[in-house]
Parts: sequence; C-alpha cells; structure tokens
Amino acid sequence: MGTGAVAGAAAPLSFAQSSFVPDVELALHAGPGEARILQGALTRVWKFSGQVLKGPAETLQAHPDSYLGPTLRLRRGQKVRIRFRNGLPEPTIVHWHGMDMPSAMDGHPHSVIDSGKEFVYEFEVANRAGTYWYHPHPHNRTGPQVYQGLAGLLLVGDQEESALTLPSGDDEILCVLQDRRFNAANQLVYLDDAMGMMDQAHGFLGDRVLVNGKERPAFKLATRAYRLRVLNGSNARFYKLAWSDGTPMTVIGGDGGLLERPVRQTFLTLAPGQRGDIILDLSARAIGTTLELRSAPFPSAAVDAMGMMGMMGMGRGRGMGRGMAAMMQGSVPNGADLSLLTIQVARRETASFRMPARLSSFDSAWVREPNVQPRRVTLGFEHGQWFLDGRTFDMHGTTPEETIAAGSTQIWEIVNGAGMMGMQAAHPIHLHGRQFRVMSRQGGSTEGRPVSEGFVDAGWLDTVLVMPGETVRIKIPFTRHRGLYLYHCHILEHEDMGMMRNFQII
Ligand code: C2O
Ligand code: CU
Ligand code: CU
Repeated sequence: MGTGAVAGAAAPLSFAQSSFVPDVELALHAGPGEARILQGALTRVWKFSGQVLKGPAETLQAHPDSYLGPTLRLRRGQKVRIRFRNGLPEPTIVHWHGMDMPSAMDGHPHSVIDSGKEFVYEFEVANRAGTYWYHPHPHNRTGPQVYQGLAGLLLVGDQEESALTLPSGDDEILCVLQDRRFNAANQLVYLDDAMGMMDQAHGFLGDRVLVNGKERPAFKLATRAYRLRVLNGSNARFYKLAWSDGTPMTVIGGDGGLLERPVRQTFLTLAPGQRGDIILDLSARAIGTTLELRSAPFPSAAVDAMGMMGMMGMGRGRGMGRGMAAMMQGSVPNGADLSLLTIQVARRETASFRMPARLSSFDSAWVREPNVQPRRVTLGFEHGQWFLDGRTFDMHGTTPEETIAAGSTQIWEIVNGAGMMGMQAAHPIHLHGRQFRVMSRQGGSTEGRPVSEGFVDAGWLDTVLVMPGETVRIKIPFTRHRGLYLYHCHILEHEDMGMMRNFQII
C-alpha cells in the first residue's frame, strides 16, 4: 500500500500498486442514513457519501438533501484513488458503470468486502467525456442495495468536450430517474417474499418516480440553453422521454459520451442503466412558459409479455397473459404516462449557445466493417428463471466463447427469441469495461415500435435494449486489461436472479 491505511480502519483490501501516485484521492462511504423524500416522516435509506482527500474540491459534489451519492467529476487521464469503506450491515462492492477499468477495480461480485472493511480503488480515467455512474454489485443483492439508495453519477470530462463550450455550471441539470414504493410510514417497500420469483421475473416497479430523490421537482430557468444529463437508475422501469409541448429531444450523447452530431427526435427511450445527454434551448420561450419532461405512454406488453397463464404452465394465452402481466406490474406499469419534472421559464437572459454541427470525432465506417463470425448470445426464460446464453451466473466460470483476447474486437449477436410459452421481456444488456456500437437490429414486433422509436443507436453504448423478438448485433472493442468482467441484463431483479455471465480477457 502506498500511503498508510485510514486510522482505525480495517486493513484495506486492494490490488493497489505502491508506485501509483494519484492526482485525485477520494474517500467514499456507504452506510445507513435518512432522506426527506415524501411529506412527513423521513425515509431510512442507504447512501453513499464522500470527501476529497486530494485534488480539486469540485471533484465531488454532495447531495445532502437526497439519498443520491455524491456526483464525481473526473477528467480523462487523471489518476484516481478511491478509498471505499463499507458501512452497511452486509457485504458490498462498488462498480463504475461504463468505465474502462482494470478487472480488479471493476467491482466484480467476487471482490465483495464485508461490513466495516475498506477497498482501495486505483485507476486512470481512460473513458471519453460522458455520463457514467456508480452503484453496488454484490451478487443477489444489487437490486435491493441500489433500491435502498446506493447510486451516484460519475461525470468524465475531456478536452474535446470542453472545446464545445456546452452549457455547464448552473446550465447543466443532472437528473437521476428512479421509481420507488413506500409504505404508510414513508419507508421503502421492495420485493416481499410472498411475491418471490414471479415479481422478480417481472422486475420491480415503484409507483412513484423520483428525480434526484424528489417527486416531480420544479426548475425555474432562464431563456438560455440547458444541458440535461439523465440517468435511468431505476431497477426495472423504462422511460420514453418527451417534452410535453412536442418540442423534439435534441440528443447530444448517450452512455459512452457525445454523438458525432446531434440527433433530433420526438422521444428518447432510456432502459435501466442507460444515460441520455439532451440540450434544451429555451431562448425563444416567453417568460412564464411551463414545460414538463414526461415519460410518454407505451403498452406495457411491449417490454413485458410474460403472462400469468404462461407462468403457471397453462399454455400461451397471449392476450389474457398480457392483461395479467399489466396487473402484476401494479398501479403504475411500465409504459404509464408520467410527468417527471416541470420547468418554468422565469427570467430573460441573452443566450449565447450555438449548437455545434459536429460534436465529436467518430470512425463511422468502423461499425459497418464486418470483422468475424458473430458470437450468438441468446436471452431466454425457462422454469421461472431468465437465462443468458443458455446459462445462469457462475461466480468464476467462463465458457470458451466467453474467453476473449485482450484488445480484440468481436461482434455479438444478441437474440431475444420466443421463450417457453412465448414468455418474453425487453432486456437491457450491459457489458462491463468497455463501450460498444450497435451494428443492426432485426425482427422485433410492431408492439415494440412505441418503445423502439425512442432509441438512439448512433453513439457508444454500454447497455443496449433488446426488444422481444429482436436480434441486435453489437461491435465491441474489448479492453486491454486482462481478467474477469461481467455482462448481464440491467433489470436488476433479472441480474440478481442470475441473468449474468462472466467474460474473461486473456
Ligand atoms: Cu450498472 Cu454490472 O452494472
Ligand atoms: Cu457496468
Ligand atoms: Cu432482463
């Protein structure tokens, strides 16, 4: 270990090298806390908190009135040390979603640390500028730990992005979307054992959507351009983002940073785990105008076509099954029409932002070049269980197809075919350690259209939504770091059920 352990802390577990000299050093802690979410009683939560030990103070921005963890702002090329301490009553480990990390720093569930223990992360920021995030990743417990409040944004900046002078500071609005359910005492309700496997197979939906830990926050803004960086940090809810007055979404980035050029479309669909980077230009609005960010309606069967009839082995019963599926999803099913936040244009200010025609450099031919025979990865459901590539999670195991040469490029063909009894769901498939590109989408039902019309496949992604009946080809330039990484469905209940596998970089 380089510098000594924090006084009084248990011996840190780490693969850290003594030669590592960090530009930035942070302390990060996960522990129980309280947050004001609803009127009345405070809600008991689990929360990340932290402090800057070395480096610029703006590296860490706390959110004291929310359960959300601090927003971390890093720059590409920075060397970062994070001393993470587990103050939870159970094991955990932090994963840096979307980041190109050495395997030992990636937060694989085999690295979980016990309550009271410390884990020292050391890495160099290799990613492009973009909106990334961090959350726990202990096997079987990711869903409940994130649900209790453990999540935060990790923003990476670089020179290419700075040169664009995108709206920043007060003109940058961070939005973490998460749905929750509460009991009469304002305490969080998660899967209860009575529901068990069925509820888990559908994914857990709350009946209130929180933005940064508050219900329907209101923003008073000026006649300027704003940058909204939105994370879908929900366990299982999909959002089809739209402006209430029909203004198109101007999307400038996604999971892996800026697009080559802005994309304007009515909707932006974000599956669990995904991010969207949006410009909202209010410069032509009259003072007093109000605007809502909404999630537009779509049929819940588009993302969850598992019928109760099918679940009980009574045949396909698709029509009936679908009605049942909606019932299972509670009072606010996936696809419900939702108001997420409101904006009021409150002040006149001269705007100076002009949207650049070109946002970032892209090798757009690369994604079209065929490279090798694609690896087929199937998504399926059998015996009350979701499968990935015909298997469930095995902590250390990999197949020959999951053994990948360092720095190589592969094409994966993800096939979301009809499962037994026609049970299907939309699965956001996430790969650790690297961003990839979507080459093609084939199949998919007309029922899925209202969801897929909000896709933006033009940029780098780390999570791709694969609709029922769809085959999606992605091209992945794998990391040069050797070791074990994960790929999994980012519906956290599916992940916890074992819809997750390792790949090994050799
Ligand atoms: Cu955001 Cu393995 O996950
Ligand atoms: Cu991840
Ligand atoms: Cu899934």
